[in-house]
Amino acid sequence: TTIRLSEYKVPAHLVDAVDLRFELFDNGARVHSTLTVRRNPESAEEFAPLELDGDSLKLEQVILDGRELMAGNDYDETGAQLVIARVPAQFELTVVTWIEPQNNTRLEGLYKSSGMFCTQCEAEGFRCITYFPDRPDVMARYRTRIEADKASCPVLLSNGNDVDRGDLEGGRHFVTWEDPFPKPSYLFALVAGDLVEKQDTFTTCSGREIDLRIFVEPRNAAKCQHAMDSLKRSMRWDEEVYGREYDLDIFMIVAVDDFNMGAMENKGLNIFNSSCVLASQETATDLAFQRIESIVAHEYFHNWSGNRVTCRDWFQLSLKEGFTVFRDSTFSADMGSPTVKRIEDVTLLRTAQFAEDAGPMAHPVRPASYMEISNFYTLTIYEKGAEVVRMIHTLLGPELFRKGSDLYFERHDGQAVTTDDFVKAMEDASGRDLTQFRLWYDQAGTPVLTVSDVYDSERGVYSLKIQQAIPDTPGQTNKKPQHIPFALGLLGAEGEALPLRLVSTEDAASAPTERVLELTKASHTFEFHGLTQKPVPSLLRHFSAPVRLVYPWSREQLVFLMSHDPDGFNRWDAGQRLAVDVIQSLVDSSGTVDIDSRLVEAYRTLLADRTLDQALVAKMLHLPSEAYLIELADSPDVAAIHRTREQVLSHLATSLRDELVACYHRNMDDGEYEVTPESVARRSLKNTALAWLLMINDNTGRDLALQQLREADNMTDRMGALRALVNSDYAEERSQALADFYEHFQSDPQVVEQWFSVQASSDRAGQLPQIQALLKHPAFDWKNPNKIRSVIGVFAGQNLAAFHNPDGSGYSFLADQVCRLDDSNPQIAARLVAPLTRWKKFAPAYSALMRTALERIRNKAELSADLYEVVHKSLEA
Ligand code: ARG
Ligand code: ZN
Repeated sequence: TTIRLSEYKVPAHLVDAVDLRFELFDNGARVHSTLTVRRNPESAEEFAPLELDGDSLKLEQVILDGRELMAGNDYDETGAQLVIARVPAQFELTVVTWIEPQNNTRLEGLYKSSGMFCTQCEAEGFRCITYFPDRPDVMARYRTRIEADKASCPVLLSNGNDVDRGDLEGGRHFVTWEDPFPKPSYLFALVAGDLVEKQDTFTTCSGREIDLRIFVEPRNAAKCQHAMDSLKRSMRWDEEVYGREYDLDIFMIVAVDDFNMGAMENKGLNIFNSSCVLASQETATDLAFQRIESIVAHEYFHNWSGNRVTCRDWFQLSLKEGFTVFRDSTFSADMGSPTVKRIEDVTLLRTAQFAEDAGPMAHPVRPASYMEISNFYTLTIYEKGAEVVRMIHTLLGPELFRKGSDLYFERHDGQAVTTDDFVKAMEDASGRDLTQFRLWYDQAGTPVLTVSDVYDSERGVYSLKIQQAIPDTPGQTNKKPQHIPFALGLLGAEGEALPLRLVSTEDAASAPTERVLELTKASHTFEFHGLTQKPVPSLLRHFSAPVRLVYPWSREQLVFLMSHDPDGFNRWDAGQRLAVDVIQSLVDSSGTVDIDSRLVEAYRTLLADRTLDQALVAKMLHLPSEAYLIELADSPDVAAIHRTREQVLSHLATSLRDELVACYHRNMDDGEYEVTPESVARRSLKNTALAWLLMINDNTGRDLALQQLREADNMTDRMGALRALVNSDYAEERSQALADFYEHFQSDPQVVEQWFSVQASSDRAGQLPQIQALLKHPAFDWKNPNKIRSVIGVFAGQNLAAFHNPDGSGYSFLADQVCRLDDSNPQIAARLVAPLTRWKKFAPAYSALMRTALERIRNKAELSADLYEVVHKSLEA
């Protein structure tokens, strides 16, 4: 069944209070839930029946105002609902259910992960715990009593403050939690297990002392410091930048090994995938450290953008996710290098979100309909949603944006609202009209901006013509032009920034050298006056809008921008465009491999550049990924793209061999390990140099890698060396290194996941038979989403040449695994299938086989709703 935004109705009943009692046992759990319910005065349906959602529940008892109700007579229980036809205007309802967390493999609702009880309720998991109006616009105060065996579950946690605890008969005990803030059911959480805690405090801007606790399994006790530091930085930042103070007396984070997603912002009790919170120098890479900081921040920021102000319905998901991603990304930028953070965000957006937006599952930032909401936790909702908020920030400027967010939080505190309410607050605070801007929420598809220019030497006028078009997407055609902020600058022959005079009378001395043009029509022409030469344009600076930009760059212009553009993002982008252009022309020219020496020289200059921010240099040295090259191509031939990219890499590495060795030595770090932007950049440069040297089977490189593997005191360097060896032709060293590494780290699940990934992503170590072997490896676990992702997900998403084997074996392998997983964990199955859904994009030989694999999944018996939606939409689009 399809749920539509246009059919939204306010709930007929409201719940003011929820009183929960959990009896946790080894063989199941009994849940007693007492709801204080009243008719919603705003609902038109005065005599509406009470409808509660439920999923996989065993109903034991229903009591209304003290009277036990009878099945069939007083209420009806269908699979998905409990319906009580006649209810008073106000009443108390107790529902008792029995559930089996130990058998819950979907990891939605209450389940067990390495012996501990935990929950995941967003979006619709609370209905797997008890019958409830499980929608975010029903907000209630929760009181939760947890009873369990004291020896196996000494720690009992839920949202809010603990108000009571004590011992019970038979070695059991209880703790009662009370959350004073009304919240939707998706923010409910419970944890029970044998955990240790790391404790700290944070003093808020108003002087309140907050108790901070991170709970982990005893073996992980030493891996919490980084998350704790990140949390404290996030709390301070949200006070300083958004004026948001934390509200409860305690803030808790729990790490669990089995988790469908990254983390969850449950009120006062965030639950994290272990891989997104645990870190130590010995076991986590720099990338992991950065990821943890941003996810801790993300979940913490949700306390305001998501919890205090929540979503009216799930069509509004980007209200909290887009805004919160924008917030965490600004935070990370402030903690490190803003340019590098922007490059990372844009890389993800252009590689993966643009692909989603061009595929069969394309949907607007505010979707109009869905079948299974879990399928809509997408790059479009998160990343494009964040870009939309960023554009509002760009259009309003930082001060008015802050006025807007203040108004939004103040106006809607304690409410469940819409993306439109968010935009309205921004409008009201700034006085700007964002009517046309709202189309960003409703129209799917990535706008294409086609830019052309002419220079009139007689008038000294440079004109830029910018045309906007938005491609059709499933169910949406003939789109209206959107409101697009377009930042640009113009450079003179020496690389100087030229004044941008939009009218001839404007004074050159006071004219800015960067402007944000506002596009609102299908076509605009802008004239820049007083120019004595044709400038080199620097377009769409800092990626001011999530669009595809088409401009006929010459390679000279790109090389020029690479070393002169004052906008670091565009410097990087010029390098990417140059490399893309070189690789694409080689893919198309079948056979002749004549690599433009300008690319080599540009990289040589980069390797020698000691003045430029080394973090930016490290980013610029990364060639565009295969996934990005595929995204840019029509009807891509994956094998040809893979081969060509490798040829270009080898050519660069061969030509720059000595510079690479020098770069390696220069960036060897003998000081203390620290995760500062400077030392991260050094390690990144060093490991890139190593990877390139091994690419060309350089024995010096090999020896350096082996030495680094032996001597490294941190996981970034170990992984850098291991990855370089794995992707080289040194077959013996590769096997030995992999075996030694496993031997050393086998007891650490997060490291074993990296060990799986490094193989699954490599065309040397991750061909299908090797992937099959990894699935049989003792450390592989079909119940653990991280293991599944690190082998199957990485193979299909990152090892593209192997996955797209022209014989179709990769596709048929993925189809098998997806079908198998659908029976245990439908959310994971529906996510893993994504690479197949892009079948239409590929060259015919590939797409036919991909389609066949999808059809096989479609014919599977008992397809879950999750997988059904994705597979059917992608076959029918
Ligand atoms: N709200 C969480 C976050 O982004 C993600 C929860 C995802 N849950 C799901 N069922 N897809 O922080
Ligand atoms: Zn989120």
